[in-house]
Amino acid sequence: MKAHVITYGCQMNEYDTHLVESQLVSFGADMVDSVDEADFVLINTCAVRGKPVEKVRTVLGQLRKQKAQRPLVVGMMGCLAQLEEGQQMARKFEVDVLLGPGSLLDIGHALEANERFWGLQFKNELHEHIPPAPQGRLQAHLTIMRGCDHHCTYCIVPTTRGPQVSRSPDDILRELDMQLAAGVQEVTLLGQNVNAYGVDGGAKLAGYPSFAELLRMVGRSGVKRVKFTTSHPMNFTEDVAAAIGETPAICEFVHLPVQSGSDRVLRRMAREYNREKYLTHIAQIKRHIPDVVLFTDIIVGFPGETEQDFQETLSLYDEVGYDSAYMFIYSPRPGTPSYKHFQDLPRELKTERLQRLVAKQKDWSMRKNAGKVGTVQEVLFRGDAYTEGFLEGHTRGSHAIVAPKAVGADSAGIYQVRVEHATPHNLSGRILGPDGEPLPELPRFTPEAAAVTGALPMA
Ligand code: SAH
Ligand code: SF4
Ligand code: F3S
Repeated sequence: MKAHVITYGCQMNEYDTHLVESQLVSFGADMVDSVDEADFVLINTCAVRGKPVEKVRTVLGQLRKQKAQRPLVVGMMGCLAQLEEGQQMARKFEVDVLLGPGSLLDIGHALEANERFWGLQFKNELHEHIPPAPQGRLQAHLTIMRGCDHHCTYCIVPTTRGPQVSRSPDDILRELDMQLAAGVQEVTLLGQNVNAYGVDGGAKLAGYPSFAELLRMVGRSGVKRVKFTTSHPMNFTEDVAAAIGETPAICEFVHLPVQSGSDRVLRRMAREYNREKYLTHIAQIKRHIPDVVLFTDIIVGFPGETEQDFQETLSLYDEVGYDSAYMFIYSPRPGTPSYKHFQDLPRELKTERLQRLVAKQKDWSMRKNAGKVGTVQEVLFRGDAYTEGFLEGHTRGSHAIVAPKAVGADSAGIYQVRVEHATPHNLSGRILGPDGEPLPELPRFTPEAAAVTGALPMA
């Protein structure tokens, strides 16, 4: 069998794709790079907003056409698969295999079934399963919990991924060891709300560390860099900020979604904190981690959001001074409380507010990034950049950064970089040697130079 997985959605989905791919390989499948080469195509879906759902509809339509022309098994997994909306689509587009986010290990049964197979249970053994560490990569995700115990009124995730289940610390550390053995240098701990780790359904699990303790354990494991995402402000505690400040391996980077700066909107979202409480967390974070890079998530145009409410979001942005933000237009999701009870605002109003917020974000990102010019940053280079002769990577604070390849630094790895230029979107600089001086750049292979020497094949 030749299999191909298409992944939409968040880092959790990327992690789940690895998990399913490792299962497929253990059942004898060859993973191929394109739909055309595959006889089994699996789409890992997202349902958080309307757009990703529409993308899946388009791809399923294309796959059904291909099915009419050649033998092809089509599967759908992930968040949308768990919803009635996704199951209707699956029927319409003749999907053969359907796996909810809690049933991924059923992939084996699905392959044996030889007929339509739908797996939609939330199964706990997922948490004991250890996927092989991805080989040859410096970065890895590590899921520490699944599901979510909150009930933000706009959010479909608790429905698609079920209640929170924390993975055992032994299991997490075992997977971390495998990742370290495979050469991983940066690990990102994943969960919908990592701060609530070890407290499932409101009950503290015996023998489980708190999130701050888990962070310290991972920080001592020998891994070079530790990041985590996402935190809910409601469960954020000062000892997490302290753990980041004290543990050298934990990156000075916090992604703390605020969603809105207005108490009235936060209440209607059922976020369980107010502006003041949120700002207290930010003050603690800044105290413990002086160079912290701060990211957030913001929803604009939540039902009932007035101009005054929106102004409070803008003013909160200035008060915190975020390095960057993921900004979303409110998207009504069938099955959520806000969909049922609130009236959606007009599209133009939401779009116009998003534009004003994006302008503010760009301003701040430019200002923050410009402040990095002249500093030395530890960069994890993933590999070649789009521009010939450059490497691309990211800093401990998750800024995207490029630098010309240098003698002794021409491929993936962690290097010190002096930042020379900044835009709102990324940084660029020069790779430094052990003496703190820029390493000599490698001569660049340009099409012009190649044309002169005749080294380029004729087009
Ligand atoms: N558990 C995470 C977020 C999960 S979803 C947390 O609470 O931090 C990622 C982001 O998508 C959310 O932070 C929110 O900003 C956005 N989002 C979720 N539902 C949405 C909706 N219905 N419309 C627009 N944005 C939404
Ligand atoms: Fe991730 Fe949420 Fe989308 Fe599911 S619905 S893939 S948890 S962003
Ligand atoms: Fe969604 Fe809120 Fe949980 S945004 S994933 S219900 S913390």
